[in-house]
Amino acid sequence: MSPVYLDHNATTPLCDDASAAMSRAAEDGWGNPSSVHAIGRAARRYLDDARAAVAELAGVSDRDVVLTSGGTEANNLGLRRLSSQAALVTSALEHPSVTESARALERGGAVVAWIDVPPDGRLDPAHVRDVLSRVPRPCLLAIHAVHHETGVVQPVAELVALARELGADVHVDAVQAAGRLDPAMWRGADTVALASHKLRGPKGLGALAHLPTKGPRPLLTGGPQERGLRPGTVDAIAAAGFGAAARRALSGGPARYTALAPWRDQLEAAAVALGARRTTLAPRASHVSHLTIDSMPAATLVAALDLEGVCVSSGSACAAGTAEPSPAITAMQGAHVASRALRVSLGEPTVLADIERFVAALTRVLQRAGSIPRVLLELSGGSLGRRLPPWRVTI
Ligand SMILES: Cc1ncc(COP(=O)(O)O)c(C=O)c1O
Repeated sequence: MSPVYLDHNATTPLCDDASAAMSRAAEDGWGNPSSVHAIGRAARRYLDDARAAVAELAGVSDRDVVLTSGGTEANNLGLRRLSSQAALVTSALEHPSVTESARALERGGAVVAWIDVPPDGRLDPAHVRDVLSRVPRPCLLAIHAVHHETGVVQPVAELVALARELGADVHVDAVQAAGRLDPAMWRGADTVALASHKLRGPKGLGALAHLPTKGPRPLLTGGPQERGLRPGTVDAIAAAGFGAAARRALSGGPARYTALAPWRDQLEAAAVALGARRTTLAPRASHVSHLTIDSMPAATLVAALDLEGVCVSSGSACAAGTAEPSPAITAMQGAHVASRALRVSLGEPTVLADIERFVAALTRVLQRAGSIPRVLLELSGGSLGRRLPPWRVTI
C-alpha cells in the first residue's frame, strides 16, 4: 500500500497538466530561450506563456514577473530591495527565507523592527500600525499570507492598506496561499513571492511578482535574462510546468482547497478525541490542521506515523530533520508546544481513505505509547462516512 501523504504544505505532487506541459516542452522547448534562432524561439514561447499565467495568478502584468529558483529566492529578492538606510518591519512567524534575510539586512545596517507574535499566530493590525509608525522611512513591511505550519490566514488586505496609508512598501510571502486561497487577498502589495512546487508545478522555480515601479535589485550578476533582475538561463521546460500549474490554480484552485475543510475537520475531531488540541483557533486555511499532542514529542510521533505509512510533519520541511523546534511556534507558544506540534496538511489528491488511515495510525501509535489507556474506535458502519464527528472514541 502506498503511503498516505498529508504534508502538502511541504510540497505537492506534480499535477497532470504540469507534467503534460513539461513533456511537450521537453520535446521542442529544450532550447535556450535567449537564443534568437527557431529552437530558442520555441523555448521562449513556453517561457512567455508560463510568465503570462504566473502574472495572472499574481495579479500583475507579464513584464513584472521575475522567475526565480523558488520561494526562498523570491523572498530574498523581495526583501533585499531595501537599502542599508531603510527599515524593515517583520515577524518571527515568517519563513526562514524572510527572517534570515531580515537578519542579514540588520547586519548590513538596516533598522529591523520585529512585530509581537500573539499566541494564536495572527498578526494584530493595530500593533502593526504602531510599529510601522515608529520606524524611519523608507520602510518595508514583510508578511506572509498563510502560515506554512499553522495554516493561519493573516489579515493581508488590511495590512497592505495600512502600509499604504502609512507610506510603507509591503512584501507578501504568498507561497502557501497561491493556488489555494483567493489571490485578491494580496492585491496591491509591492512584491509577492510564489513557489511553483506548492501549487503542483515542478520544484526549482518560483517568482517574484512586483508592481511596475517596484522591481527588485538583482542578487546575482550576469546576463540580461529576466530583464537583468535575475541573470542565468531559465529552464523553459520547468517553466512550462509552472505555467500549466498556475493556469490550473486559476481555474478553481481555491474552491478545491475549500472543499477539503470537512475532511480536515473530521480528522481534527478524531485527533482531539485522542487527546490532541488545536494549537490555534485563529482563522486558517481549510486544508491545514496544526495539533499539539502533549503526550509525545512531535519528532517521535512523526517517525512512528511514518512507520505506519503516514507522512506528516512536525514543522516546516526545511526545519524537518533538525532537532530545533520551530521558531514560529516557539514565538507563539513557547518551546514545549513547539516540540509537540504536528502539522497535517491535506491537498488536492487527498481522499477520505487517507483521513481514515491517518486516524487509525494515530490511534495505534498513541495506544502503543500508553497515551490512550483503553480506546474503542468505532468507525460508523465500517467506513467513516461523512457524519461529523464520524469517530466515537471511548477512553
Ligand atoms: C511560506 C513559505 N515561504 C517560502 C518558502 C520557501 O519556498 P521554496 O521551498 O520554494 O524555496 C516556503 C517553503 O516551504 C514557505 O512555506
